[in-house]
Order: sequence, then structure tokens, then C-alpha cells
Amino acid sequence: MHLQFVTGNEGKVREAREYFDGIAEIEQVTYDYAEIQADSIEAIARRGAAEAYRERGGDEPVFVEDSGLSIDALGGFPGPYSAYVEDTLGIERVWSLAADEENRRARFRSVIASASGDPADPDVETFTGSVAGTIVAPRGDGGFGYDPIFAYNGTTMAEMEPAEKNAISHRGRALAAFAEWVAEDER
Ligand code: IMP
Repeated sequence: MHLQFVTGNEGKVREAREYFDGIAEIEQVTYDYAEIQADSIEAIARRGAAEAYRERGGDEPVFVEDSGLSIDALGGFPGPYSAYVEDTLGIERVWSLAADEENRRARFRSVIASASGDPADPDVETFTGSVAGTIVAPRGDGGFGYDPIFAYNGTTMAEMEPAEKNAISHRGRALAAFAEWVAEDER
């Protein structure tokens, strides 16, 4: 089994390969699909997978992964706009927005969308994973993105070893569900 992972992020590819060891080969494809503007990362991932699958000719399944951070007290902000907000405001300013709030609960979500079948009307399956934590003042040098301000059981994701983070992360959980589905399909 061979799957194409459409992403520019090599870290995500390394992570996916760990979950697909012995199940499928993962090839990184850096096709830059247009991300639609939508209120849910699921809708963005579904459209991205279908578009990339059509673009790649539709002979091998294609998947994409989209993730985001939602802060409860800020109505779910930045959610589907997480990458844009990281680039424009930066995580220090996201922390300062949350710092004024009593409730600092937040959640990372990851959606994997996999496309296969007829390229004119692809079958798209989605797999989700999430992890709840709290927003804290930045700590730690590991990880990427919002990791320094997201704490799980008192430790920020930037303070964790990669394996420790993968074991509890939103993307790890979505990848595990996706790998299980592929493995079942292979049987
Ligand atoms: P994308 O899905 O790679 O576009 O990521 C969306 C946004 O969420 C970016 O700002 C990422 O930095 C952030 N993000 C996604 N996954 C993680 C994570 O595991 N830790 C920290 N930030 C993340």
C-alpha cells in the first residue's frame, strides 16, 4: 500500500511514517492546494484532499492533515485561522489575549482527510484527534507553532520529548485512527 501525504511539513511526514510502519509506505508530496476559508478545519481538509487527489491524477490515495488551536474563553479563536494568527500576531500575543481570562482551557484539533476512488467525485474519509490543555506563558524550546504556550498536565508541548508529545497529541490520535482504518481495509 502506498499513500501520498500532501504537506510541506517534513516533521508531520516523519510522524506519519511511525504510525504506518508495516502498514503503508508514505510519500511526501508538496502540492500547494488552495485552502478554502471556512469555520471548520474539517471542511478545509476535505476540500484540500479532494483537490489534491484530482490534481495528482487519482491513481493513488492522497491525504492531507489540517490542525488548529481553539481557546475556549476566546470563542474558539484562532481555530481554522491558527496558522494565519501565528504568522501575524505570534504566539506571545495569543498568550497575552488568554492571560486576561480566568478560564485558560484550550484544545488542539487535527483532521486528516483521505481521498480515493473516482477523481471526478472522490470518496473522502476523515479522522480526527484532539487534546485538551491550558494556555500558559511561553516555556520550552522543543516542538513548533503554539507548543510553548500549550500545557498538558502542567508541561508545555515544547518541554516534551517528541515521542512524549506524539503519544498525547491531536495529530498522533488522528494518525492512529487513520492507520487503523487503512490496516483494516488491507485485511
Ligand atoms: P497546519 O495544519 O500545519 O496548517 O497548522 C495550523 C496551525 O496550527 C499552525 O499555526 C501550526 O503552527 C499550528 N499547529 C499545528 N499543529 C501543532 C502542534 O502540534 N503544536 C503546535 N502548533 C501546532
